[in-house]
Amino acid sequence: MDEAKLGALSKRIMGIYEGALVSGMVYLGDEMGLYRAMHEQGPITSDQVAARAGLHERFVREWLSLQAAAGLIEYQGDGLFFLSPEAGLLLAEEEDLRSMARWFDNFPQRTALLSEIPRSFKTGIGISWSDVERGGTSGRVQWMERLLRPWYEQVLVQTVLPELDGLIESLNDGSRVADVGCGSGVAVVTMASAFPKSEFYGWEIAPLALDRCRENAIQAGVTNAVFHDVRQQQLPEDGSFEFVTTFDCVHDMTSPDELATAIYNSMTPDGRWLIVDPTSKGTLEENIEMPLAVFGYAASVAGCLQSAMSEPNGAGHGVFGLPAPAMQELTEKAGFTRFRQLDITHAMNSYYEVRP
Ligand SMILES: C[S@@+](CC[C@H](N)C(=O)[O-])C[C@H]1O[C@@H](n2cnc3c(N)ncnc32)[C@H](O)[C@@H]1O
Repeated sequence: MDEAKLGALSKRIMGIYEGALVSGMVYLGDEMGLYRAMHEQGPITSDQVAARAGLHERFVREWLSLQAAAGLIEYQGDGLFFLSPEAGLLLAEEEDLRSMARWFDNFPQRTALLSEIPRSFKTGIGISWSDVERGGTSGRVQWMERLLRPWYEQVLVQTVLPELDGLIESLNDGSRVADVGCGSGVAVVTMASAFPKSEFYGWEIAPLALDRCRENAIQAGVTNAVFHDVRQQQLPEDGSFEFVTTFDCVHDMTSPDELATAIYNSMTPDGRWLIVDPTSKGTLEENIEMPLAVFGYAASVAGCLQSAMSEPNGAGHGVFGLPAPAMQELTEKAGFTRFRQLDITHAMNSYYEVRP
């Protein structure tokens, strides 16, 4: 027994346990508006925080003490707590791309899902995004929407689409566009608002996500976006789409091969498919060294792999199952001949332009 290793590992395990507990506390702070109550207020007492958030002071004081111990909020003595501008940006802001409170949004659902997941380990069948009965799915839908909205609204049209030659011009002129696995429809609605002469179609399997798609379209006032439930209406394989997108979902599919073939058949001869999917290095040795490896593998066991194994013989790629060469092979098997990785840096995802 290596005593130093034992000590280091037990510290690491305790840190993991504390991280989980503090995650719950960050979730509570976001949910109850505590960070927002402190944002841009300067040093503030627990009485003042409680009054601003409309909560009971004693519980607020204990939460503040924990936040100070965890190093998220500063304790300045004399009962004064301070949310620094940096902590405020990360924990109290919503629109900034760097803000992080939204990461914790589905903490209760993720935790609740732990009682469901052992069944997947025993049966080999995962929990589908469309399976609303089995807990956690509504949390996943809302979480993804809140997590990704700033990126869709601030980056997709402004930075990513211009990387595809001539795409902006054709969308301005009017194109038929499909987004498969469209989640809550934020990408579709954002693009539909930006390109009113184009027609946008979203395909989804999760009923709760489809409800959100329609609500989002109404709220944004877009009339050029329509959403379909893939179980009732498949992507039409009629060569009519000039542009197809899949954001963060190829690896979630039980049959990505069938998806690629359907997209190939749905597309005009010079159409293009924008794939955004998690970056994988190809080997486990390299993958576990990536900065978001822990998050990625945990999200896979509890979400992506669940979806990709939710039918018998599901492909089961999981978050890191499709490195660029495997993605290229998948698209070539479907008939695509041109595969280009875009020069876009993202903490989690790679970007590919694929053409027939
Ligand atoms: C990680 S989420 C990404 C959602 C959305 N593209 C976004 O970026 O917000 C993956 C999505 O793929 C959907 N999905 C999984 N299997 C599908 C299928 N066979 N057909 C259509 N959508 C599917 C899930 O319901 C889920 O909304």
